Amino acid sequence: MSNPVAIVTGSSRGIGRAIAQQLAADGFCVTVNYNSSPDAANEVVAQIEAAGGAAIAVQASVASPEGRAQLLEQTLAKWQRLDVLVNNAGITSPGRLDLLEATPENWDLVLGTNLKGPFFLSQAAANSMLGQIEQGIIAGGKIINLSSLSAYASSPNRADYCIAKAGLAMMTNLFADRLGDEKIQVFEVCPGVIATDMTGPVKEKYDQQIADGLSPIKRWGQPEDVAKAVSAICADYFPFSTGQRINVDGGFHLRRL
Ligand SMILES: NC(=O)c1ccc[n+]([C@@H]2O[C@H](COP(=O)([O-])OP(=O)(O)OC[C@H]3O[C@@H](n4cnc5c(N)ncnc54)[C@H](OP(=O)(O)O)[C@@H]3O)[C@@H](O)[C@H]2O)c1
Repeated sequence: MSNPVAIVTGSSRGIGRAIAQQLAADGFCVTVNYNSSPDAANEVVAQIEAAGGAAIAVQASVASPEGRAQLLEQTLAKWQRLDVLVNNAGITSPGRLDLLEATPENWDLVLGTNLKGPFFLSQAAANSMLGQIEQGIIAGGKIINLSSLSAYASSPNRADYCIAKAGLAMMTNLFADRLGDEKIQVFEVCPGVIATDMTGPVKEKYDQQIADGLSPIKRWGQPEDVAKAVSAICADYFPFSTGQRINVDGGFHLRRL
C-alpha cells in the first residue's frame, strides 16, 4: 500500500505548519493548504521535500464550498487516498470587539471559517473516507479538529471566536458518534496559548499572564507541542478512543484553588 495521506488545513503558518512537518516526518504524504500565503506554503513543501518527505501546496479557502471541494479533489488526484483530515485553519476575531459592539459581518466571517468550513469539509472527507474503506484503499480514517481554550473560557471581546470553538467541540462529538462504528475516529485537540502569528499582537499581555501563573506549566506553548499530540493520534496510539478532547495547554484547563 502507498503511504498514508493527510490534509492539514491552514498549514502555511503557525500550528498547521508544525503539524504538516511532523506528519510528513512520520511518513504521511501531506496536502499543505493555505488561503493567502503561497510563498509560505511553498516553503513548507520545500522543507518537507528537502527532509525526504512528500507534500503539495493547495490554495483553497475552507470558508468556501468551492475551496473545500478543490482541496479534496486535488488531494485525491495527487495521492488517490485520504487517511487524515486535520481541521486547523482558523482566524481570530477581527478587531477583538466587545460583545456589545460585535457585528454580523465578523460573525459570518469567523463562524464561516472556523466552524462551517470544518463541518462541511469533514462531511465531504468522511464520505470520501467511507468509500475508500469500503474499497479497501484505506483501513480507517481520522478527523482532528483544532479547537481552543476559547471553547470553554469566556473572552467577551471575541464572542464569535469562542462560539465557533465551542461549536467545534460539539462537532467533534457529533462526528465521533456518527462515525464511531465506521472505522473513522474523531478527536478535538485543544491548544492553550501558543506562540504564532495569531497571538503576536497580544504577546505582551500573555507574557505577563503566563509569568503570573495563567497555567501550571509557566511557558508559551509552541506549535510543535500541538503537532506532537496530533502525531500521537495519527500514529494510532489511541485505537479505542473517539470524541476525545486532548488539551495541549500547560494545564490551563485545571480549575485551581
Ligand atoms: N495560537 C494560539 O494560541 C491558538 C490557541 C488555540 C487554538 N488555536 C487555533 O489553532 C489554529 C491555528 O492557529 P495559529 O495560531 O497557527 O494561526 P495563524 O498563525 O494565524 O495561522 C493560520 C493559518 O490558517 C490559514 N487560514 C486562515 N484562513 C483560512 C481559510 N479561510 N482557508 C484556509 N486556510 C486559512 C492561514 O493561511 P494563510 O497563511 O494563507 O493566511 C494560516 O496558515 C486555529 O484554528 C486557531 O484558532 C490557536
